[in-house]
Amino acid sequence: MPENPLPENGYVHGYSARESERLRDQAQTLTELLHHDTHYPAGCRVLEAGCGIGAQTVILAQNSPDALITSVDISEDSLRRAEDRIRQEGITNVTFRQGDIFQLPFGGESFDHIFVCFVLEHLADPEQALRQLHPILKEGGTITVIEGDHGSTSFHPENTDARRAIDCLVELQRRGGGNALIGRQLFPLVTAAGYHDVSVSPRMVYVDSSRPALVEGFTKLTFTAMVEGVAEDVRKQGLMTKAAWDRGIAALYRTAEEDGVFCYTFFKATARK
Ligand SMILES: C[S@@+](CC[C@H](N)C(=O)[O-])C[C@H]1O[C@@H](n2cnc3c(N)ncnc32)[C@H](O)[C@@H]1O
Repeated sequence: MPENPLPENGYVHGYSARESERLRDQAQTLTELLHHDTHYPAGCRVLEAGCGIGAQTVILAQNSPDALITSVDISEDSLRRAEDRIRQEGITNVTFRQGDIFQLPFGGESFDHIFVCFVLEHLADPEQALRQLHPILKEGGTITVIEGDHGSTSFHPENTDARRAIDCLVELQRRGGGNALIGRQLFPLVTAAGYHDVSVSPRMVYVDSSRPALVEGFTKLTFTAMVEGVAEDVRKQGLMTKAAWDRGIAALYRTAEEDGVFCYTFFKATARK
């Protein structure tokens, strides 16, 4: 096997400009579906763990303009971009800080609420990450965790190479220490990490050509772009031939045509300390 070409700290999607653009498109398309029921009260302290380039930070801050949000990420570069973005939006209730979710620089019970989105899927020990967050959450405070699950994908027309291309992404993430099928595990994970009143809400994105914004924003720019983004790694690791890969990607784009259909389910867990 060739050497693992995954970026530093194993983050499978990397930190390229295209990935940044993909995360922004993803966030815009999914805002309503994922965020409509997250509003934090005035004056409360919220930790966003793993904020990336700030795609969810903007939404969190706009939905809870009077909450005091601290957004943390391990990547200095992503934090800089997140900060620029927040400044451009004129948002003033967010503070950024570099940090590793496994050893965050906060004292006990520092936050009323914690928000974690699309981060656990990249971590080798997601339960431990949730455990590390437990002491810095106030008694009675809430944690919200949102994750996808690539195994939830279904589409029409069905295609074997498209399935294999998605499986390659799952396999690459596994080799990098992550889990692209983590959405279905949120209930047991959050429960095992010591939180109470765990409630998981599956959020399905259903896309057909009567929903052109989702065809563009989700099927093409979010999901298929994400799969396409690992083409080089798939090749380097010899997971699929170029011909089969190209057929798989073409088949995913095919689901965005007039008679195509694409479905994906996200999982949103909320729990209390
Ligand atoms: C897919 S991005 C999601 C970013 C953002 N939450 C969003 O939904 O747009 C995952 C982020 O987790 C960060 N990350 C990975 N491991 C981390 C760790 N141990 N501590 C803090 N952040 C981490 C990565 O740097 C990356 O920015």
